[in-house]
Amino acid sequence: MSAVIESHQQPLRLAVLISGSGSNLQALIDASQRADSPFEIALVISNRADALGLERAQRAGIPTQTLSHRGFETRAAYEAALNDLLDQVAPGLIALAGFMRILTAEFVEHWQGRMLNIHPSLLPSYPGLHTHERVIEAGDSVHGATVHFVTAELDSGPAILQGRVRVLSDDDPARLAARVLEQEHRIYPLAARWFAEGRLALGSDGRTKLDGEPLDSPVIIDANA
Ligand code: GAR
Repeated sequence: MSAVIESHQQPLRLAVLISGSGSNLQALIDASQRADSPFEIALVISNRADALGLERAQRAGIPTQTLSHRGFETRAAYEAALNDLLDQVAPGLIALAGFMRILTAEFVEHWQGRMLNIHPSLLPSYPGLHTHERVIEAGDSVHGATVHFVTAELDSGPAILQGRVRVLSDDDPARLAARVLEQEHRIYPLAARWFAEGRLALGSDGRTKLDGEPLDSPVIIDANA
């Protein structure tokens, strides 16, 4: 019988930044509560006091902080306060989950390779807002969501995972958004798990690496497959 080498590593500490509903946060909470989860959520920070996601975190017994951007004169001053909160829990990974703030290049560089975002489109298509409306207007047949490492440009950066859905002829933005959100809830916990397991990294060449190999394109999970 071969010896079993037990790992006594602590689970990776995740900080999640939100602004609203926090359904992606909920998916991360659910995944973190599985017995075999390689990550735990150490802190949830919202820039809005009324974010429903704060209640989700509190219900799960996760520490929360509200840090409103109002009252800070500059983005840099806000981010310095954000870093003070983050440094208290020393996260191994930050997950932006509907955190609707533009971040400075300095903040992004500080957390480079340790910060993920989820965006409701198949990046590089449709960065920014109102992605579902724009996809329907353009007549696209496929839509979805992307988890990516964060770089200084808005909703860009080396892609990791995409969840794809078919756009139906009678879709409206709300129905399409709901189907995309289902995929978001699959792919974000999966990306966090890969990172926490040490399978996922941002290479020094700026490309995503999975299991040591650079990814030419994101891993795709097709809802219709
Ligand atoms: C999600 O659809 C996420 O992809 C999007 O905000 C929503 C947050 O929902 N993020 C962006 O648009 C980032 N540019 P949630 O609060 O229920 O997770």
